[in-house]
Amino acid sequence: MDGGGKNIWIIANWKSNKTIQEALDWISAVGPKLEKRENLKVVICTTFTAIEEVKKAVMVGNYPLIVGSQDLSPFPEGAYTGEEPAIILKQFAELSIIGHSERRQNFGETDEMVSKKVKQALDNQITPLVCVQGKETQVPEGVKLIAYEPIFAIGTGNPDTPENANEIAENFKEKYGIEVLYGGSVTSKNVKDFVTMDNINGVLVVGASLDPEEFVRIVQNAIR
Ligand code: PGA
Repeated sequence: MDGGGKNIWIIANWKSNKTIQEALDWISAVGPKLEKRENLKVVICTTFTAIEEVKKAVMVGNYPLIVGSQDLSPFPEGAYTGEEPAIILKQFAELSIIGHSERRQNFGETDEMVSKKVKQALDNQITPLVCVQGKETQVPEGVKLIAYEPIFAIGTGNPDTPENANEIAENFKEKYGIEVLYGGSVTSKNVKDFVTMDNINGVLVVGASLDPEEFVRIVQNAIR
């Protein structure tokens, strides 16, 4: 693997897509094609509805896939209608995306809420993956993994340049000593350009992750 044995994270986020059956079809198409490698961490972040079935399918198939959620509650368990708390999610999720720009834009998520969610994740042994939109985004204490996702690159087919993403990643790495992923219009064609950058530890992929064949190509091209 390139990059001197550094961890490579390939994280799929389905957003609000896929029925349970579609999710299971994806797992059976992708799972058997994934190589087991020590430094390769492939994660699938499902809807809350599909997460239990996906977790079971991954365990039964013994696939090298980590299951994650796309969000979690800023509160513990209790009287918080509609929220999914980390203490319940930890039955299925080992990682949770927190502070995606769509949550910040569409659901009024603030840095303070992001910090509360990170605390809930850490208290329940879920790895928080915090999305940062630029150099100025705050990274809460205890976070070890972030994804730099410039808004202009999300779902547009217009990714940031690997060089610029690498420079921003370096900035965060120096400041916080953490691993940094890149996200925004990643495909099987450009994934290698990002993961071979010194300061980039992988990618967060949405559009191109929905199709199982394209996702397998992304993983293969990243480690080739
Ligand atoms: P995209 O989305 O891969 O479809 O560009 C990225 C994201 O929202 O994280």
